[in-house]
Amino acid sequence: METSQRMRRLEKGVFSVLLDKKNELIKQGKSVIDLSVGTPNIPPTKAVLDAISEAARDPKNYIYAIKDLDDLRQTAADWYKDRYQVVLNPETEVLAAFGTQEALTSAFMPIVNPGDLVILPDPAYPAFIAGAAIADAEIYFLPQREENGYIMDLSEVPEEVARRAKVIVASYPNNPTASVAGPEFYQELIAFAKKYDIFVFHDNAYSELAFDGVTCGSYLSYDGAKDVGVEFNSLSKTYGMAGARVGFCMGNAEYIAAFDTFKTNTNFGLFLPVQKGAVVALTQDQACVKETCMAYQARRDCIIDAFGAIGWPIKKTQGSMFVWAKCPQGHADSFAFAMELVEKAGVLVVPGVSFGATGEGHVRMALVADPADIRLAAERIKQSGILDKKG
Ligand SMILES: Cc1ncc(COP(=O)(O)O)c(C=O)c1O
Repeated sequence: METSQRMRRLEKGVFSVLLDKKNELIKQGKSVIDLSVGTPNIPPTKAVLDAISEAARDPKNYIYAIKDLDDLRQTAADWYKDRYQVVLNPETEVLAAFGTQEALTSAFMPIVNPGDLVILPDPAYPAFIAGAAIADAEIYFLPQREENGYIMDLSEVPEEVARRAKVIVASYPNNPTASVAGPEFYQELIAFAKKYDIFVFHDNAYSELAFDGVTCGSYLSYDGAKDVGVEFNSLSKTYGMAGARVGFCMGNAEYIAAFDTFKTNTNFGLFLPVQKGAVVALTQDQACVKETCMAYQARRDCIIDAFGAIGWPIKKTQGSMFVWAKCPQGHADSFAFAMELVEKAGVLVVPGVSFGATGEGHVRMALVADPADIRLAAERIKQSGILDKKG
């Protein structure tokens, strides 16, 4: 069998390489502290668990959902109204998805023709690249550099690229760089999109994970945003519901209608108990959101303190569930460094280069370990001598 050209653009990804390495070391009897995969591990509230399990016991909830429950779309619209002062029509401007990963890997299909150009951040969350590849798009990578606070600089986009581009993807708080964008970025993004007739996908999967009193907004809260784009959000991190697979695409009605048509051809909707659990998540006492955010912030503080104390300083990040660390002195190649780190110290991180060329020289660590494991990871790194390399 010959796989399609499209498949050749989809790589198995660094995570399976890292998992193989981890399993090989565990087989040799070694212990590995895994900071690689960003699986949220703060569970949903009892109210959500009860709603999902009660609905799951009702045989009537095993039919094809076909459509989103009215209640679900209304609740999502209310959430955006309360949280971001964004007014959305639940019927025409809200669409549920099986998480934002599924949404973003199919989001290009309704709007991109084979060969169309899309602008993606570099480094990028891999689903953006996969989505563009599935739609046979050509990709222009716009760097997120340290000197710009790891935010894309739109003035770097060459004129001919801007004229040709069909879609631009932005996502803050960012994975992997953990950067957070301010109002100026979003205003510039909307002006840029309008000037060149480019459609915006804003992935806001970490909307509630912003630290030190910083509150992240919504792309849709800026003037003109809905004219030129949509936002994706997710209940995975905010409500600890990653495995339940529920997220939203919201904003531009014309795009939502096209995406809805696409989705009605590819699936029969979200499992009804999950839809009901999502309604409860969004309408319950929202204190749990703050608690989740504080838990990630405490892990961030712990990792920065513990690694700083052993001579690996990491810049304080403002959001998401990651830290983006520069490789220590003498370790310019992030893949080689990550491999050496897991072999010598038993600490697994993701090489920055696997998110794009601009990610070279960095590694990403997910805030998934509890403080005791983070401190143990730091101790092991210190003992391994890997930080002693010079030049
Ligand atoms: C930037 C970003 N977008 C989307 C996702 C996917 O989230 P979901 O669980 O909603 O599919 C992730 C998951 O790590 C992410 O980092």
